[in-house]
Amino acid sequence: MHLTCTVVKVVMVVGMLMVMTPNSDALSGKTPPGPGLLGSFTQLKRVVSDFFRSRSAAEMISEKEGGLYQLNLGLSKICFINSRGFRDEAFLEKYHLFSDRGVESNKKQLPEELMQWRGTIRDNGAASEEARAFVNSTLKETSYLRTTVETQIEEAIAFFDDELTGAIPSDLVVPKMIFREHVLDVMTRIAFDTAGHRNTISGQWQFQKFFEDVDALSNSVLFQPGFISTVLPNTKVDDYETNLVGVAKYLKERAEEAIYTNRETSLVQRYSDFFLKRESSIAQPEDGWRLMYDFFTAGVNTVPEVITWDIYYLASDLDLQDKIRQEMKNFGTDVTYDDRTSLPRTMSFLTEVHRLRPVATLGIPHAASADGTIGGYAIDKETLIIPNHWAMHNDPADWQSDPQVFDATRFLKLNGNDLTFDSDKARIVTPFSVGPRSCPGQEVAAGPSF
Ligand code: HEM
Repeated sequence: MHLTCTVVKVVMVVGMLMVMTPNSDALSGKTPPGPGLLGSFTQLKRVVSDFFRSRSAAEMISEKEGGLYQLNLGLSKICFINSRGFRDEAFLEKYHLFSDRGVESNKKQLPEELMQWRGTIRDNGAASEEARAFVNSTLKETSYLRTTVETQIEEAIAFFDDELTGAIPSDLVVPKMIFREHVLDVMTRIAFDTAGHRNTISGQWQFQKFFEDVDALSNSVLFQPGFISTVLPNTKVDDYETNLVGVAKYLKERAEEAIYTNRETSLVQRYSDFFLKRESSIAQPEDGWRLMYDFFTAGVNTVPEVITWDIYYLASDLDLQDKIRQEMKNFGTDVTYDDRTSLPRTMSFLTEVHRLRPVATLGIPHAASADGTIGGYAIDKETLIIPNHWAMHNDPADWQSDPQVFDATRFLKLNGNDLTFDSDKARIVTPFSVGPRSCPGQEVAAGPSF
């Protein structure tokens, strides 16, 4: 690990910076509230030590000075956004300034064979726009979602049902593992048009290894591009690389197999066709697996996390369970995702879980691609922008006096005598973030959790 060396370099640079003025003022404006240079390092230590309990880090940050709060770490700056107004200004109105992921040194973390990333999560500017163009023509496109994604999800759910029915009780002791297998199955069907289940000896081994690598990557979140590398540029962590390569190899093999056997509805085949027609100098037709890497690492932990919270709240309130079961029974036929608008109680419950337990509590960091302002405060180029979804979902201005109480009826309203789902209120719950850089997997995530 080259971390020690980097830390020494950083300590020296920081020492020099301590005698310099804390902030340079972009566009000569006032800088956002924050603790200045020395205080920022103390704060960062707390944020980092709390990061694995990101909710407490989020609470701590939002206790501070309101909607915007900035740590000044010498040349690096981290600006936390705690209010919807500022978040919308940055990610919607000024998306052209605040939609990058970060400094180029992010990529230096990657092993040689993965350097040309061309995925979505890590890329900036034109590269990320190309990836989004493909995503918008598939995962955000209604007819593709209807004809392909929903069919794949339904097949995966039928498979999941059979598995649960045939499971022996000891298989059910770690529910999150079962949900993860289900989500991996959904994603493998969409990406490669083949079931994701471990039905062969080599498949079993790969499957197990894949989860170990994904877990290790999630646990080393601090070393992932976009966070620590902004503060400690050029940091390389060997274990992180090993896991990264492990996941990448698994997905690359599956992608090659899908393209070799010409599985037309697989997402990697579509990617290939899309970029063959487009003649891009950045994205290449054979790069679909890189995008799948982003999808899998973004999806296989987040969705099971949400399902686990859903089950937790249902299991701890039998009355709620009965009401939701009754609503489905009253609906009559086998309920599908398309029927959700007729199930206000179910929708209100699911939205409340997203509100109170946003799995990406602090989102994925954005970065300022040029000097700009948010809320009149000056934001320097390359400042890391972290949206605090937890604070937004607990803002008393939106949720009256009880934002921290779980209330499954929060999004219900009376329309005449009918109980309906309050979709206007639900719109301010944004676990997938907002704007052009928001989560492209929202619909894929919603299907299996519904
Ligand atoms: C409940 C589950 C999920 C939640 C709460 C969630 C949330 C998020 C959030 C907050 C972001 C950052 C958006 C931003 O930077 O403004 C994000 C990005 C992303 N998500 Fe999800 N996500 C979920 C599931 C998924 C799934 C299933 C997929 C893949 C099919 C996926 C793929 C991605 C990708 C590729 C990005 C990066 C987008 C970019 O950089 O342009 N996510 N997600």
